[in-house]
Amino acid sequence: MSELNINLTYFEEVESTNKVLKEMCDKGAPDGTVVVAWSQSAGRGRLGRAFSSPKGGIYLSMLLPHDDSMTITAKAAVAVRRAIEYCTDRECRIKWVNDLYYNGKKVCGILAEAYKAHVIMGIGINFCTPQKAFPLELQNTAISLYPSPEKSDSDPMDTVNEVVRNLAQLCTEEDDSWLSEYQRYSMLIGKKVNVIQAGKVTATGTVSKIDNACALHIIEKDGHEMVLTTGEVSIREV
Ligand code: BTN
Repeated sequence: MSELNINLTYFEEVESTNKVLKEMCDKGAPDGTVVVAWSQSAGRGRLGRAFSSPKGGIYLSMLLPHDDSMTITAKAAVAVRRAIEYCTDRECRIKWVNDLYYNGKKVCGILAEAYKAHVIMGIGINFCTPQKAFPLELQNTAISLYPSPEKSDSDPMDTVNEVVRNLAQLCTEEDDSWLSEYQRYSMLIGKKVNVIQAGKVTATGTVSKIDNACALHIIEKDGHEMVLTTGEVSIREV
């Protein structure tokens, strides 16, 4: 696949960078187009949820060539994890499929949407969001890389550029080395998890591996192996 020409447009605030990028795509924007905002008034998450997007975060969407495999969303997690480590020295772990966790709490969410002949890859990183800016219900589960803009020693623009560069590279090269990185940094291997479908726990078990198609393998109590290719799991408290 040929290289992407990256073209970034910045906004102070938008409703949702995914929405803005769809509008740009409708007008003919090519793959490699990126929309970045420093806050969102109507950020969207997976499964139709809202995504809290206060000032202090990085909210970006990138237009990528169509790809119907689930590996593209796993590649995005690797791209962001690498960028965060490189730019901020923070080590994050990946919660299948593509959430990033820092110190045990969610620091980044990723929403990949198929759109026409493209994928819109939407990424929200809590960069230097003050904890009190998150809604009450996220206080115990969300975290930022830096506790406030004053306490940040890196420029969010560097992280934006590195995320986009990594993503363009991973989505255009044939090299599979990202896969072992995805598996190595997974925080679920060996963990007891609940499988959640339509908001309900439908099964429980222990994660044995993530395979080369990025499917999650869970061994249930009776020894039966479940293989999840989509969906959601939560880590069980023990
Ligand atoms: C999730 O954790 O449920 C996925 C969250 C994805 C949020 C990003 S922020 C940039 C882009 N614009 C959106 O409205 N959503 C994605």
